[in-house]
Amino acid sequence: MPSRIITLNEVIIQKQSAFPYAKGELSRLLSHIGLAAKIVAKKINKAGLVNILGDSKNVNVQGENQQKLDVFANEVFINTMRASGICVGITSEENDEMVLFDDDLSLDGKYIICMDPLDGSSNIDVNVSIGTIFSIYRRVSSRGEKATLEDFLQPGNKQVAAGYVLYGSSTMMVYSTGLGTTGFTLDNTIGEFCLSHPYMVTPKQGKIFSVNQGNFINFPRGTKEYIKYCQEKDEATNRPYSARYIGSLVADFHRNLMKGGIFMYPTTGSAPTGKLRLLYECNPIAFLAEQAGGLATDGLGNRILDIQPTDIHQRVPFYTGSKDMVQRAEEFMEEYKDEK
Ligand code: AHG
Repeated sequence: MPSRIITLNEVIIQKQSAFPYAKGELSRLLSHIGLAAKIVAKKINKAGLVNILGDSKNVNVQGENQQKLDVFANEVFINTMRASGICVGITSEENDEMVLFDDDLSLDGKYIICMDPLDGSSNIDVNVSIGTIFSIYRRVSSRGEKATLEDFLQPGNKQVAAGYVLYGSSTMMVYSTGLGTTGFTLDNTIGEFCLSHPYMVTPKQGKIFSVNQGNFINFPRGTKEYIKYCQEKDEATNRPYSARYIGSLVADFHRNLMKGGIFMYPTTGSAPTGKLRLLYECNPIAFLAEQAGGLATDGLGNRILDIQPTDIHQRVPFYTGSKDMVQRAEEFMEEYKDEK
């Protein structure tokens, strides 16, 4: 913990100096994300007090009911990014199609964003932690023109920055520009994200496994065997591990990042390619995991960040967290790869 208050904006500017040719556009974009996050955090904190809970009438592209706070968060982030003039378009979980900005300022923008504005939304009504996840790419299309599908279908290894905001017992923003993973905690009294976790390094081996075991019967055999391994007693390897599962990716991942653990969302009967979305859930989380010394794979030997996306709302199986644990899960998956 630093001995004086250092704000998010100070750190963003410090990190920019590591890139001598940077013009400050990414820094400004990250500051805008921080601003939008503060607006959303304030609304979430008041959610129990005002009549904002409950389903809105819209259903999103995944066939899920959008709740009012999802809609609010989506609008706040889209409007803030549009106003930044640095971002030329957004792919959001809440929009079927890409949102392309076409005002003169935005058309000249260098970056596109993939985001889930309010992840874990089924937890809103019960006052459980939720999050925002974002991923930033340099556009591949020409500046001055509208963004294209190719701008959004870049593999995760092309991310220039990624992060999440965790709306928990306190609000945190964790992000990386490829120089390690850094965490900030919102001080509500001054309205600033303050540096609280300068170098986030996840333990190589943890004691937590996080997976929705309600789907166990439909998991691949390798994942079932790995879960049994996590549950077995073995003093030498500190097993059994503890099972912890909130159902909010940001909260589950954040806990495991801090304490050491593995998060898994495998294929299931109802989600044969997994549930989580590559562009705005798995890629940004994978980027942060790797930057903190962890791993992220699809359980089939493929690094998440190397998967070539084919669809903006594509889903993939997801295994992430402490390096040794993800590798062990992969070994089980490999051993049973020919079995259902
Ligand atoms: P939603 O935003 O629809 O609540 O989805 C949350 C995501 C992710 O945050 C979480 O890890 C996962 O879905 C939980 O899914 P299950 O309820 O199927 O376990």
